[in-house]
Amino acid sequence: MSPDLNGRLLGRTAVVTGSTSGIGAGIARALAAEGAHVLVTGRDEERGAKVVAEIEAAGGRADFVAADLGLGAEAIRALAARVGELLGGAPDVLVNNAAQLIPATRTQDTDEATVASALAVSVAAPFLLTRELVPGMVARGSGAVVNIGSINGLVGMAGAALYSATKAAVHALTKAWAAEFGPAGVRVNTVAPGPTRTEWNERHRDLLAGMVAGIPARRLSTVEEVAAAVVFLASDEASNIHGATLPVDGGFTTV
Ligand SMILES: NC(=O)c1ccc[n+]([C@@H]2O[C@H](COP(=O)([O-])OP(=O)(O)OC[C@H]3O[C@@H](n4cnc5c(N)ncnc54)[C@H](OP(=O)(O)O)[C@@H]3O)[C@@H](O)[C@H]2O)c1
Repeated sequence: MSPDLNGRLLGRTAVVTGSTSGIGAGIARALAAEGAHVLVTGRDEERGAKVVAEIEAAGGRADFVAADLGLGAEAIRALAARVGELLGGAPDVLVNNAAQLIPATRTQDTDEATVASALAVSVAAPFLLTRELVPGMVARGSGAVVNIGSINGLVGMAGAALYSATKAAVHALTKAWAAEFGPAGVRVNTVAPGPTRTEWNERHRDLLAGMVAGIPARRLSTVEEVAAAVVFLASDEASNIHGATLPVDGGFTTV
């Protein structure tokens, strides 16, 4: 093992959706740094290849599979089939991170196409991918699913109704799946980030204006802080944690 690797997930395999940028890329890097063989996925091949190269440069192991999660069940079955080929079966860890981020929009200004694609990418896709991959975990008797929710799944904010609905759905999936798969040894939990320092947020600073003042920590989360929570929930350190929501939000939803 490379001296750069820590080893909490040595010998394990992981799939991280939406890992070509932002939080997902950070999660992929962090899981790989713990020794997991990570499957990086998203639509953008160039950014996917860059994340794989970063992981390999740090001594880790990763592969990239291009997939558009907005294209429905057929595309998701194809992704699941590639996961099986590249990782040798169902992954030990599935991180449902990809989501359609939506700039602040009033409900009356939200068009049907955005409603349909947000529900497809952020709710139907994690449901369908989990449907494809969890049976292998159940058959093996072990596995960890970490869903990436949001503070928007926990509190209401004007201009964020559609995004909040998708994230609340993710939180609900965690609880239902924890009940459904827990008896078979598969743990399902949520990490709920607060506003996090990502490229997207750099481009939408207006969304965050005023919000930081209401965060007890008075700052954004970092990608690394969110990824550390995911690694914990994916690891054996969280071996009896099922159906939990772990906020990484500087206390915004908890204080
Ligand atoms: N950033 C925050 O402040 C924040 C706060 C709370 C929760 N979150 C949650 O954290 C997660 C990651 O957000 P982020 O801020 O890191 O966003 P991001 O930088 O925009 O990354 C989104 C990822 O999802 C992928 N993706 C989007 N649409 C896709 C599609 N149709 N098919 C396949 N992949 C798709 C993108 O890959 P491609 O472009 O390559 O397709 C990208 O890798 C999301 O679940 C988000 O709701 C973020």
